[in-house]
Amino acid sequence: MHIVLGITGSIAAYKACELIRLFVKAGHEVQTVITPAGREFITPVTLSALTRKPVITEFFSSRDGSWHSHVDLGLWADAMVVAPATASTLAKMATGVADNMLLTTYLSMKAPVFVAPAMDLDMYAHPATQANLDTLRARGVTVVEPASGELASGLVGKGRMEEPQRIFETVCGAKYNKERARELAGRHVLITAGPTHERIDPVRFLGNHSSGKMGFALAAACARRGARVTLVAGPVGLPTPQGVERIDVVTAADMYDTVTTAFPTCDAAILCAAVADYTVAAPAAQKLKRTADDLTLTLLPTRDIAAAVGRMKREGQVLVGFALETDDGRESARAKLAKKNLDFIVLNTLADPGAGFGTDTNKVTLIANGGERALPLKPKAEVADDIIDELCARFV
Ligand code: PMT
Repeated sequence: MHIVLGITGSIAAYKACELIRLFVKAGHEVQTVITPAGREFITPVTLSALTRKPVITEFFSSRDGSWHSHVDLGLWADAMVVAPATASTLAKMATGVADNMLLTTYLSMKAPVFVAPAMDLDMYAHPATQANLDTLRARGVTVVEPASGELASGLVGKGRMEEPQRIFETVCGAKYNKERARELAGRHVLITAGPTHERIDPVRFLGNHSSGKMGFALAAACARRGARVTLVAGPVGLPTPQGVERIDVVTAADMYDTVTTAFPTCDAAILCAAVADYTVAAPAAQKLKRTADDLTLTLLPTRDIAAAVGRMKREGQVLVGFALETDDGRESARAKLAKKNLDFIVLNTLADPGAGFGTDTNKVTLIANGGERALPLKPKAEVADDIIDELCARFV
């Protein structure tokens, strides 16, 4: 593999040497790109000795004034790894600031990107840093979570860069590399994500805890493999993954209309949204006033999108559903597989810590008529890749 290794201004920059050593020993070619702050922590001479390539630090080579092309680097690379990645670089990557060679390289990158955050534990825990990481994850960047340590408050938190061996394993074990990047080329995949909101009155709604992270990770994974992706998203605050066409909807009825209209021309649909099963029969036109009396809302069942699409499915189309259960729920998932005419269903249960709503991880079991495969707890980006592997296998 060709690896672009970005190094930023962190005390953990010295660990980049070990990371380079691991990549080179495994037969990979490494091109380092270092930020001006990174140069304060590690010398280009050390890095070029390890990679046997000149280190890129500036837009222009100081030796002969020639221009370093970030676009060429973006095409050359099979993976880009930013390790260590400071809070500042992560913020710039999330917002598209392009004031150094590493950042312009990131913006031109065609290959999968990995970041290994390294910073003070409180900085890592700060909502601004977490929001930037969420933005990057939603764009398909893999975050190699930092190791744990003690916060100033005495609580345990994360911040110290993960060990090079683990970063190396994450990059090399990633399912999506350049060879697989065109696996879904020419395919159109429809994905639903997030919750639906059913209106009670102009200020209240019935909803659920879906954040959209699982569905957005699936959309990013499909786009990385070259698919045309239509993402039908309920009300969530996540940024749209790169290369994905997004249609925002609010209610189960909106989602039903959008999905059933789009499905006939798609090759596959993955229904990951947590769709309301009931809607309010008569939403109030004005805000309901609080009174001493009980309030009864009449709820009507919504239309089942998956079942409708299952009935529309033609030869060659692949339909994937999800089942969210509160216990093991295998029987229930199998019943949904049959009732909705799905090719396979992804079971996740709230009984498993770190699985289901809101988390950055999930623990799922892929269930088909032929059998089932239980996967361990892992980041939603990796779960998405496992699901897309299964989808791709259905196309051959
Ligand atoms: O968004 P996150 O915070 O990342 O959380 C991810 C998730 C938990 C929402 C996701 O992994 C998940 O499990 N999504 C499905 C949730 C759900 O509604 O499950 P269900 O068992 O109630 O529904 C079964 C299937 O029918 C689902 O594919 C669902 O999209 C579909 N359905 C349900 C109701 C309805 N009216 N129409 C549908 O198509």
